[in-house]
Amino acid sequence: MADVPMLEMKGITKRFPGVLANDKVDFDLFAGEVHTLLGENGAGKSTLMKILYGLYQADEGEILLNGTPTLITSPTAAIEHNIGMIHQHFMLVETLTVAENVALGLPSSRGALTDLDAVSEKIVQLGSQYGLEIDPEATVWQLAVGQKQRVEIIKALYREAQLLILDEPTAVLTPQEVDQLFDTLHQMTADGRGLIFISHKLHEVLALSDRITVLRQGRVTGYTTTEGATRSSLASMMVGREVKLAPDKPDVETGSAALEISGLSVIGDRGNVVIDGIDLTVNEGEILGIAGVSGNGQRELAETIAGLRQAESGSITIAGTDVTNQRPVDVRAAGLAYVPEGRMKDGIIGLFTVAENLLLIDHNSKEFLDAGLLNFEAIRTHSQDLVDEFAVKTPSLDTPVRSLSGGNIQKLILARELSGTPTVLVASQPTRGVDIGAAEYIHKRLVQQRSEDTAILMISEDLDEVFGLSDRVAVMYEGEIMGIVDPKKATREQVGLMMAGVSQEQALA
Ligand SMILES: Nc1ncnc2c1ncn2[C@@H]1O[C@H](COP(=O)(O)OP(=O)(O)OP(=O)(O)O)[C@@H](O)[C@H]1O
Ligand SMILES: [Mg+2]
Repeated sequence: MADVPMLEMKGITKRFPGVLANDKVDFDLFAGEVHTLLGENGAGKSTLMKILYGLYQADEGEILLNGTPTLITSPTAAIEHNIGMIHQHFMLVETLTVAENVALGLPSSRGALTDLDAVSEKIVQLGSQYGLEIDPEATVWQLAVGQKQRVEIIKALYREAQLLILDEPTAVLTPQEVDQLFDTLHQMTADGRGLIFISHKLHEVLALSDRITVLRQGRVTGYTTTEGATRSSLASMMVGREVKLAPDKPDVETGSAALEISGLSVIGDRGNVVIDGIDLTVNEGEILGIAGVSGNGQRELAETIAGLRQAESGSITIAGTDVTNQRPVDVRAAGLAYVPEGRMKDGIIGLFTVAENLLLIDHNSKEFLDAGLLNFEAIRTHSQDLVDEFAVKTPSLDTPVRSLSGGNIQKLILARELSGTPTVLVASQPTRGVDIGAAEYIHKRLVQQRSEDTAILMISEDLDEVFGLSDRVAVMYEGEIMGIVDPKKATREQVGLMMAGVSQEQALA
């Protein structure tokens, strides 16, 4: 390592209305290393990185690049200083090709002619150098999530980023894609780049980083080298107490079929068959896990059950009521609670307050009506209870939801959907993006609802979660169910093979 760090952030303070997001934070990074920022939802990780990338200005503190105090007033300035950022929400133009996206915004693209062939050539070269193979002529909307991320990384490399910020880059990736990404990142540090990594997945943090800084409530509360750290030592550093990494699950006798899906076929957004005649039953008091690499029809399955997408053929019933192609409100009335995967898009109304969002589905409940009028006191008490129970970090019940951190928005939706005892719960990626303390609580809640006879369909890419919670595991591949296995008997490898399209017979052989 060089003597002078490539980056020093000193005494960074950033205030938002009612929140001290960063409180005198010190952070540094040397060339050739990965330094992880770890912390609970709302701890201030993204804020610190947005300051570094010129998206926010710090109220106090300074940034030194290679020892020189530097003002970074915009992302353009950050790029000029060879800083790149991979955001969780990709910033690509869907209708343009990969090469066009990479060329977009380059100084040369403002001239009359951009040599797209030269850009394509460089993309192919960077791709083979860093294991980021991609077709430069492909149009972005056709790409899978993992491929879009490759384009973002190539874009940063093309702009000669030496310091790369990766804010939860693995949250949307499949396990295989994560392995590939890590190979790429190792290559980059070997070439002398410095990486700042953010993730809630502790095994990833341990596998990738050299050093780890822990943030809590905007302040640096811990620091360690990765050597000698363990998942549980990191967990307690973050949360300040021991954390259970796998839930206790009592035996529950399952009841009758609560959710029955038969012969269901669905056409996707691109006009192709995304669900191909599947049959599934979930019984009362049971968690059926759906394992699978995302993009194999899981999202469409959840949306079709919730009434947000049309079924081409087949049927869906909840406790015997046919809800096929019914309106979302009617499906809810039949007993469904739904935690969507795209929570920013489908789960909340960003301009509404925390309290209003918590009430979105509950507004007919008698509890909150007093002689036909809304009982505001009861509503506020109920909202405050949920916020406390799920540890949603918010300045107040009246804060607009869009100013909460990513993970806290997730917790809010979970609080709303898990607060009742629905007949059927469909939960997509229930702990994606939430910190481990919250994940522990959500798992406890799911197990509790199972004890109260809710039938739970849990869609997850996290095999730890699938194996830890499910009573049965269905594996989905290209719109079909490859098989249903007993998680006490099947291994991860077997399920992994089925996720890749190997038949159950062959996988278990
Ligand atoms: N633009 C904003 N306006 C108001 N408050 C904000 C804004 N951005 C962040 N905050 C607040 O600052 C705090 C830190 O948020 P930040 O997004 O940095 O957290 P984080 O550590 O990245 O969390 P997560 O793991 O959930 O992504 C939170 O309380 C959040 O509500
Ligand atoms: Mg964040």
